[in-house]
Amino acid sequence: MKFEDILKEVNHVDLDEATPVEKDELGSGADHHVYPSKHNPKVVYKLGSEHAIDFWFDMFKSNPKVFPVVYKRGKTKMRLKKDKVVFKDTGFVRLKAGSIEPVDYVEMEKLDAKRAETEWGLLNEAIIDITEGQWDFQDYVIHFALFEGSKLKPDVALMVHVIDELKSGYPSEHGMILRFLDLIMEIKKINKHPDLHMYNFGYDTKGALKCLDI
Ligand SMILES: Nc1ncnc2c1ncn2[C@@H]1O[C@H](COP(=O)(O)OP(=O)(O)O)[C@@H](O)[C@H]1O
Ligand SMILES: [Mg+2]
Repeated sequence: MKFEDILKEVNHVDLDEATPVEKDELGSGADHHVYPSKHNPKVVYKLGSEHAIDFWFDMFKSNPKVFPVVYKRGKTKMRLKKDKVVFKDTGFVRLKAGSIEPVDYVEMEKLDAKRAETEWGLLNEAIIDITEGQWDFQDYVIHFALFEGSKLKPDVALMVHVIDELKSGYPSEHGMILRFLDLIMEIKKINKHPDLHMYNFGYDTKGALKCLDI
């Protein structure tokens, strides 16, 4: 076989692995579709427009402790399940359901997003309890993120009260909130306006909490 053919074959494997044909999606948001690898349970493929992936790729690549480790970036195609409005070149265009679109893919470390979602839910319950319905964990996160390096005044007294009550009455939730808040401080050093919500976190196999979407 010629070298060129070998290259083609390698590329073909990539394309096949990253192309979401008859594969169950692991998750998706507004900008990306994420699929498990067929061959490696530790790996996922995140597909999105070149523009969408440009936005975070370098950030992920240079911060493997905060984001999933990225292994490889490439080009593939995917069939759209529904109409989608995307930014292309100079403006927004509507792509039709069923059309096959070129996308970029990134092969990356698979995180346990379920565990992070469960913990977020437990923190919601505990914080609603402690604040008698004033705040859930999302409110806490918003205040915490504003507080970090901003002139805006969050309710610091309530934030401290929540931490104290978690520490004395909810020891495992106390451990969880410290993991989230420590990570959010790291994320904010990299991006001042991150997208901090329940579905954007996951644990790696060593038990480190990471951010899977910025
Ligand atoms: N590295 C990953 N490991 C496991 N699941 C992931 C990973 N990245 C994304 N996901 C899943 O896919 C969903 C959508 O991915 P996300 O990066 O949040 O895309 P979007 O930018 O469109 O919101 C996530 O909420 C999560 O459930
Ligand atoms: Mg997301």
